[in-house]
Amino acid sequence: MCLGFSRLHIRTSAYLRLLSSCFPLSPNRVIFSIPVLFSSLVWSGYLEYDQDVLVTEDWTHVGRVEPTEDLQLTFALKQQNVKLLEETLKQVSDPDSAQYGKHLSLDEVSSLVRPSLLTQKVVHHWLQSHGIRNCLTVHTQDFLQCTMTAEVAETLLPGSRFHRYTRDGQSVVRSSAPYSVHDDVHQHLDFVGGLHRFPAKRQEVIKEQRLSKAGIHLGVTPAILRARYNLTSTDVGKAHNNSQAVAQFLEQYYHPADLAEFMSIYGRSFQHLSQVDRVVGTQGGGKAGLEASLDIEYIMSTGANIPTWVFTNPGRHESQEPFLQWLILLSNMSGLPWVHTVSYGDDEDSLSTAYMMRINTEFMKAGVRGISLLFASGDSGAGCKHLGKGQNSFRPSFPASSPYVTTVGGTSFKNPFKVTYEVTDYISGGGFSNIFKMPDYQVSAVTGYLKTVATTLPPQSYFNVSGRAYPDIAALSDNYWVVINRVPVPWVSGTSASTPVVGGMLSLINDQRLLKGLPVLGFLNPLLYKLKGQALFDVTEGCHASCLDEQVQGNGFCAAPSWDPVTGWGTPNYPALLAALLVD
Ligand SMILES: *[C@@H]1O[C@H](CO)[C@@H](O)[C@H](O)[C@H]1NC(C)=O
Ligand SMILES: *[C@@H]1O[C@H](CO)[C@@H](O)[C@H](O)[C@H]1NC(C)=O
Ligand SMILES: *[C@@H]1O[C@H](CO)[C@@H](O)[C@H](O)[C@H]1NC(C)=O
Ligand SMILES: *[C@@H]1O[C@H](CO)[C@@H](O)[C@H](O)[C@H]1NC(C)=O
Repeated sequence: MCLGFSRLHIRTSAYLRLLSSCFPLSPNRVIFSIPVLFSSLVWSGYLEYDQDVLVTEDWTHVGRVEPTEDLQLTFALKQQNVKLLEETLKQVSDPDSAQYGKHLSLDEVSSLVRPSLLTQKVVHHWLQSHGIRNCLTVHTQDFLQCTMTAEVAETLLPGSRFHRYTRDGQSVVRSSAPYSVHDDVHQHLDFVGGLHRFPAKRQEVIKEQRLSKAGIHLGVTPAILRARYNLTSTDVGKAHNNSQAVAQFLEQYYHPADLAEFMSIYGRSFQHLSQVDRVVGTQGGGKAGLEASLDIEYIMSTGANIPTWVFTNPGRHESQEPFLQWLILLSNMSGLPWVHTVSYGDDEDSLSTAYMMRINTEFMKAGVRGISLLFASGDSGAGCKHLGKGQNSFRPSFPASSPYVTTVGGTSFKNPFKVTYEVTDYISGGGFSNIFKMPDYQVSAVTGYLKTVATTLPPQSYFNVSGRAYPDIAALSDNYWVVINRVPVPWVSGTSASTPVVGGMLSLINDQRLLKGLPVLGFLNPLLYKLKGQALFDVTEGCHASCLDEQVQGNGFCAAPSWDPVTGWGTPNYPALLAALLVD
């Protein structure tokens, strides 16, 4: 029997069972508008009441997981002193503060945020009472990773029902329904990982050859980037203890032979390394991936001669979330590289607030340690969310929208046949968060923009003017050459190209700072916004993509003098930026 959507008094798990029985053949399609429908109610037992649990169509449902199969779930324990952590991050990142550059060690971060003894006790007791003893913790003690059977997991987390799904040979286990936790532990947990969020989808990085008729496009190579951003042959890494990293969360791998080939073709004019220093995680034996090759080849071209790590797909168990696994690694390792570039993102509206808030705290933990996190701003411009009845709004992306990361947008050359000035790349992700408030460091830049372009702004119903606005900075994102499977491939595009390019340049600046005995840059934004665009090439032309509807007709925001939510402050003029960022 199928019931309508009006039975508000039924407990959710019972309700879900009823609904499942309405759609017995498609357990992956049912249920998941419930948290939305019911969001006016407070489900005390649901940690992530607003998490989207809809399974996208590219995943094929395989079947229920056997009760005896092992799962590995991640428990994010409530931390202490999150406000103090945030305050500390502001101080160590603000060049006008006496605390500037006084970064914390992993031990110090631990003493600050470590969950209270009560929290630890309650959570351990809860797990043990279900016979779960097989748990690993991290240095900061705020995550637990536990192995248990599917049967135990479904009892521990009422509502959860574990299924297996596949896509392109990748297999994951996720719950088709929202989970709840016992009232006693509710206040001691932020969320449980491994139930809902699916691995990110590969972004389409090859654009059509729009210019093929007009002639051969210049294409972006390391030499072109180094020319445009004024890097000389001596602007390469020299410090002893510097390093940088790229993180990958796709079922794809860079190939060492591709990197070596890339450097032998494109690296002739500058000193560089042709090998990765360290791979953290599991490099599969599978095919080389375009995106994996792109990241590593380009961070090692601008951040030339700097030891480079690859964090690769650190989520090998079917029930793990690769992005979360990477953050857990960061919380469990001292001596990490200073700059990390990441081309991963999800729509903000597909993630629970609890999850995003906690991940944002993880970014703060990295920032206070002096680690710079750079995220690609996304490849869909302002994005578009259909609200129904021809009504749309823009669609911000996370982690690009976090106030505690540096978000990188994309540009193209004005004249694609020459190293000229840059204009907006229409794919460049940007906009305003609906989750995070606008941080102090950007208020005057963003309000300045909103005033300047007031008459040409998209309608206010499309975006949230009080949210964290992004990106912060940009670089070329159009028509890169990448070596993959030993062959140079043109036309590779996306903010996953611009992000490692900026990352490599920040690593070079860290290098100079380390040589001068200065602390590394760490969380860059407070300092970046104080430059007010000095040392960057301002990008003032072009608009990025958004909804194809009558009101905005495919346009999101447009670039403008000074900061804008398409290209941030613009692209780096390396020697000038180096001079400006050698502050102490
Ligand atoms: C964290 O590192 C320690 C050793 O340094 C290890 O014993 C532990 O299993 C790691 N935690 C996780 C979740 O991998
Ligand atoms: C850097 O590049 C720009 C444009 O390509 C050029 O105008 C400028 O003189 C160069 N040098 C410095 C030090 O900024
Ligand atoms: C290099 O930096 C790491 C922290 O990132 C530190 O633990 C280590 O002691 C440093 N080594 C030297 C030689 O300074
Ligand atoms: C707009 O953003 C703020 C935080 O900056 C948030 O509190 C508010 O709910 C958002 N509004 C919408 C409609 O999402």
